[in-house]
Amino acid sequence: MHVLTVLDHPDPASFSAAVARRFMDGVETAGHSAELIDLHAEAFDPRWTMADVEADGNASALADVGREQARISRSDAICLVFPLFWWGMPAMTKGWVDRVWSWGWAYDQLDDPELSLQRSRPGILLVPAGARSDEMEEKGYLAALGTAWIQGTFGYFGLSPRRLKLLCGSEGSPERRAQLLEQSFQAGREVFSAGNGG
Ligand SMILES: Cc1cc2nc3c(=O)[nH]c(=O)nc-3n(C[C@H](O)[C@H](O)[C@H](O)COP(=O)(O)O)c2cc1C
Repeated sequence: MHVLTVLDHPDPASFSAAVARRFMDGVETAGHSAELIDLHAEAFDPRWTMADVEADGNASALADVGREQARISRSDAICLVFPLFWWGMPAMTKGWVDRVWSWGWAYDQLDDPELSLQRSRPGILLVPAGARSDEMEEKGYLAALGTAWIQGTFGYFGLSPRRLKLLCGSEGSPERRAQLLEQSFQAGREVFSAGNGG
């Protein structure tokens, strides 16, 4: 099986980059192949422009979008890794999702988010976040992000099972960070396991 990891961080020494590497290590340890899209290193253009508007339902014709869609098409599971920015996706990931998972290619059933045009495959979000996990739950951020990303975005894309893992306390102690990296490794190792959080 082939697993695509999409990393959004400009710094190869960042915690997010380490999370992506450990996830991919887990994938390979389980005997699968791993491919990385490093959005910053590859200088992906996240801006949704008139070219995207004019492509209207045929975004695959845009060279950069078509290339990313081909990478998704040959993947059996997809993992997005990005730091939580203002309770949302950083601009690069947001633009990649906006432009690449396009109407007419990823979905067309606005009334039924489960009717994706893409085949079903596991999807996971690994999201380092500065906040503590109790704060995430108590203030409702975890539920809000789950609704938006798991039901919303990943639902439209037909990913299944789908899983959101907030790596809370990512700026904490070395022990905490080591724990989070170990969780990332396990997430990679178990990406195709039944009941992996759904
Ligand atoms: C612009 C910006 C916005 C951020 N917004 C949030 C936030 O809304 N919630 C949160 O828990 N952490 C937030 N953080 C903290 C980052 O999520 C945290 O620093 C990051 O996960 C650390 O990973 P890194 O070393 O890979 O950058 C923010 C950081 C930056 C730079």
